[in-house]
Amino acid sequence: MTHISLLENKYIVLGVTGSVAAYKAVDLASKLTQAGAVVDVIMTASAQRFVAPITFESVTGRPVYSDMWQTDHTDDLPTPIVHIGLGEEADLFVVAPVTANMIAKLAAGLADDLLSLTAISARCPTVIAPAMDGGMYQHPATQANLATLRSRGVTVIEPEVGRFASGMTGKGRFPATPTLIGNIRQAIGRNGALAGTTIVVTAGGTREPLDPVRYLTNYASGKQGHALAQAAVDVGADVILISTTEVLPVPVGAQCVLVDSARDMLAAVQRHLAGADALLMASAVADFRPAEVKAQKIKKSATPEEELTVVLTRNPDILLDVKQQRAESGWPRVVVGFAAESENLLENAQAKLVKKGVDMMVANDITAPDAGFQADTNRVIILSADGSQEPLELASKATISELIIQRVATMLHGLPGS
Ligand code: CTP
Repeated sequence: MTHISLLENKYIVLGVTGSVAAYKAVDLASKLTQAGAVVDVIMTASAQRFVAPITFESVTGRPVYSDMWQTDHTDDLPTPIVHIGLGEEADLFVVAPVTANMIAKLAAGLADDLLSLTAISARCPTVIAPAMDGGMYQHPATQANLATLRSRGVTVIEPEVGRFASGMTGKGRFPATPTLIGNIRQAIGRNGALAGTTIVVTAGGTREPLDPVRYLTNYASGKQGHALAQAAVDVGADVILISTTEVLPVPVGAQCVLVDSARDMLAAVQRHLAGADALLMASAVADFRPAEVKAQKIKKSATPEEELTVVLTRNPDILLDVKQQRAESGWPRVVVGFAAESENLLENAQAKLVKKGVDMMVANDITAPDAGFQADTNRVIILSADGSQEPLELASKATISELIIQRVATMLHGLPGS
């Protein structure tokens, strides 16, 4: 896990209760700390039967709280009353794993241990991750308590289906750390700069079928598009990610539409355009496709010198289609294109900006080894319709995405009616 700027210096109070999955919360505490958050752990007495406090202290670098009568605490708490201090200071209150017993206490507002006491003092968003046997999770009491908590705005992370410590299977397993962190990001970013907006992002290279086993594609990995989707979720947007790749994780909170060909992508973009505040076309759309898709696999003949000619035909240009729709409807309010160039970067990108009628064209030189396709980093120049050019330094695709999304937010906020 790497640094996550959204979590930088965020103060997260992590409650850990007595589930077998308590040991997995150590990884969560560690990854949150590595991401840049300040994590204070509260353990119930039962949790300490599963994991020793020193384990959490080692990964967070901070003392673990467990006693509701204790008065010693780190200097950054504003009051010697620990549960008030933790609850007042926290940017996010997380209970992971949370047992059926603690869920019941939180729903009823009981406050008879440090964790439940802090829960009722907390003024920040709350996220809980249930982990228990399937029967306990499905029990009407647990479900009713979870419904109560949801109605109060608590984020309940759905447990996963799988095998329990009991040997039985069902729904109730503690999710993997990236899922937990994805939910935490969404909860922290909920009221961010793009809250209330819908952002459509396209990602990856399209696949143009030739026969039942073959297709034409390009080197685009989808990494920049998926990173843009995450950056938009991080500032509260409703995100629709139209992607060609099943390999990359979909950010928690984004709705993913999987597509293959340019024509599939066009149809998906058209479907989601109405009401979209911004469209970011980070995908590498194939300009050509095989003119004919063979119904059966193309077989080679016995002649080793044989040549095969594939006739290609032009694909639709999605951004040109969007330009036309936008001229009629005014939506999406902001459109961003991405120019992949191997020569004459600025001239070509500027020409595309004008031709495709976008507000911003993100130009990148795909021949640089540390930028463009497949790489985890990128170096881009943002061209704007007002004629400005802004080179961004080499950075991770996550950072580049945050900078692009910030500019999209600024543009949207500057539009009339915003
Ligand atoms: N694009 C599109 N539809 C296409 C091709 C590209 O919407 N059929 C979009 C891309 O998603 C990107 C922008 O247009 O946001 C520029 O894509 P790029 O491949 O750099 O340019 P092309 O228009 O394909 O031009 P060329 O291949 O001639 O450089």
